[in-house]
Amino acid sequence: MSADKKIVLVTGGASGIGAATVHRLALDGVHVVVADRQVELSHAVVMEVEQAGGSAEVCELDVAEPGAAAAAIQTIVAKHGRLNGAFNNAGITGPTVKLLDIDPQQWASVLAVNLTGVFTCVQAEIAQMVQQESGGSIVNTASICGLVALPHATAYNAAKHGVIGLTKSAAVEYGSKNIRVNAVCPGFIDTPMLAKGAGANQQVLDKVVGQLPMRRIAGASEVADVVAWLLSAQASYVTGSAMPIDGGWTAQ
Ligand SMILES: NC(=O)c1ccc[n+]([C@@H]2O[C@H](COP(=O)([O-])OP(=O)(O)OC[C@H]3O[C@@H](n4cnc5c(N)ncnc54)[C@H](O)[C@@H]3O)[C@@H](O)[C@H]2O)c1
Repeated sequence: MSADKKIVLVTGGASGIGAATVHRLALDGVHVVVADRQVELSHAVVMEVEQAGGSAEVCELDVAEPGAAAAAIQTIVAKHGRLNGAFNNAGITGPTVKLLDIDPQQWASVLAVNLTGVFTCVQAEIAQMVQQESGGSIVNTASICGLVALPHATAYNAAKHGVIGLTKSAAVEYGSKNIRVNAVCPGFIDTPMLAKGAGANQQVLDKVVGQLPMRRIAGASEVADVVAWLLSAQASYVTGSAMPIDGGWTAQ
């Protein structure tokens, strides 16, 4: 690996949107750290990247484990001497139940991964970037559920709204250090997560597609392209944004 490559961490990089972004960043010449709790899948992604001529490595990480994100970043910095960017994307679906039926444990586990997991990553990443004095770019995965509420998804909606608040706070506080922090708000994206949720029921999926202005769900690479742009110098004056990538869902 050449010494001048950017080092970028991608959480949830073993699957779906994260894996597509790992591939896209590697094509752009970035050295990508694939951080996920699914280690075997992470190794498979790294192998594909290397076969395509790119460079990546695996970092086993459970973002819900206290202290784990900070430890992972310490390891990356000990090895590479820097962290230039991060895509905090690991996430899980929540229970599909009415608000009154939410079990406190389910609430806690969705918040632990989808909001606190992003917070601990952002905190450790910014600490490192401030110390480096070289700026940096961070992208967090929110959702259309961070902009509007989908029914029967209270915990997920709350966590994703929180990710946008966290993103804006970090952008405002660290803009003066040239650390940019943005969120992406994907709509319905063809990934294993969607396949387990709305995509598991063809009738539900057909209804969703019928309501989408663009009349189709998106491929994960369509999110990856936007994330790669936000992480790049081409987005040098973009910070604090929450960008819908939703085929027009939240525009209507
Ligand atoms: N697919 C969609 O339609 C859609 C829409 C909006 C937002 N999102 C968000 O996009 C992100 C990626 O989702 P996806 O659709 O690619 O799903 P996915 O299930 O394909 O990928 C999620 C990845 O996150 C990892 N992960 C989950 N919990 C983790 C943890 N505690 N620590 C480390 N890694 C963990 C999983 O192992 C998996 O590799 C999530 O934050 C999700 O909420 C997805």
